[in-house]
Amino acid sequence: MSPAPLIEVRGLGKTFAVRDGLRTRALHALTDVTFEVHRGEAVALVGESGSGKSTAARVIARLLPASSGELRFDGADVLARRRVPLSFRARVQLIFQDPFASLNPVHTIGYHLERPLLRHGKARGRAAVAARVHELLDSVGLAPAAELARKHPHQLSGGQRQRVAIARALAVAPDVILADEPTSMLDASIRVGVLNLLRDLKEQRGIALLLITHDLASARYLADRTVVMYAGHVVEVGPSALVMAAPLHPYTRLLISAVPDARGSFATPLAARGGAPRLIDPPPGCPFAARCPEVHDRCRRELPALRPVSVSRLARCHLHQPAALSAAS
Ligand SMILES: Nc1ncnc2c1ncn2[C@@H]1O[C@H](COP(=O)(O)OP(=O)(O)OP(=O)(O)O)[C@@H](O)[C@H]1O
Ligand code: SF4
Ligand SMILES: [Mg+2]
Repeated sequence: MSPAPLIEVRGLGKTFAVRDGLRTRALHALTDVTFEVHRGEAVALVGESGSGKSTAARVIARLLPASSGELRFDGADVLARRRVPLSFRARVQLIFQDPFASLNPVHTIGYHLERPLLRHGKARGRAAVAARVHELLDSVGLAPAAELARKHPHQLSGGQRQRVAIARALAVAPDVILADEPTSMLDASIRVGVLNLLRDLKEQRGIALLLITHDLASARYLADRTVVMYAGHVVEVGPSALVMAAPLHPYTRLLISAVPDARGSFATPLAARGGAPRLIDPPPGCPFAARCPEVHDRCRRELPALRPVSVSRLARCHLHQPAALSAAS
């Protein structure tokens, strides 16, 4: 792993102006979000609905402007330039939950792959473009490529469409793919195939991945490290295996306990512990205080910082004081 991160997010904030009756108020979708993704690394962004995962991905992809904080890509301060260079668009690719929505029903699969190749100058001339389209389809396991290229999106299954979306991202030779719930609309049997494809891209081509998912099993399977978000804050970061086996933050513990076991039973359903956090006019203190089984006075007064708890792990919780760092975990 290179010491300089490919993506470095520091204290990132994003507010949306939302109407509340006659007033306009600030919804704090991201607050002081800090994490990094190294070259060839897979990082999972997990958290319940509304925790800010998609907003984080869109700000990183520069589809949305940040309200505060820093974003460095390959060492460069990318927010310093208002205009987003075409090279950045190529290097950072985003794929979405619903590939059907991002494919134009009137165009063939081949057309969808030709467009980025031509726009980014990755192939020239009819024969070269067609050959590259076929290579891309082969590389995501869609065969026979020539036949697939002539089809329209509605003629493909959900899993095949997601593979086309991945092929389209690959067309421009990205350094990182931000995948926003790429398998949540797919059947379980097809999901594994798409996760394996993403894993192969990471392992064989060194493409970094930011996998946004509700599914902790997918995060554990694919991601080297996991970033847990709650109410727009990063609350825990660490190697996925450690985060899942021995979560530090009370929210991560509840998130994991809310996953049904093999018999389909839940140990502690999250919903039973209070409602969604307030993102408009958030109360002071820890954003998880209203739902936390371990809340104490200080939590309601003081927002904990995201602090190292060991060499590889960070937590935002007053229960975890900065430790004398050991290499043990
Ligand atoms: N364009 C917008 N305008 C106003 N509020 C927004 C906008 N986009 C997102 N939000 C709000 O920001 C918060 C974070 O949303 P976001 O979509 O990032 O969450 P998420 O973690 O991706 O959720 P999910 O798992 O449901 O996809 C939510 O309260 C959402 O309603
Ligand atoms: S800071 Fe307090 S309320 Fe927040 S997660 Fe830790 S113990 Fe719970
Ligand atoms: Mg989302």
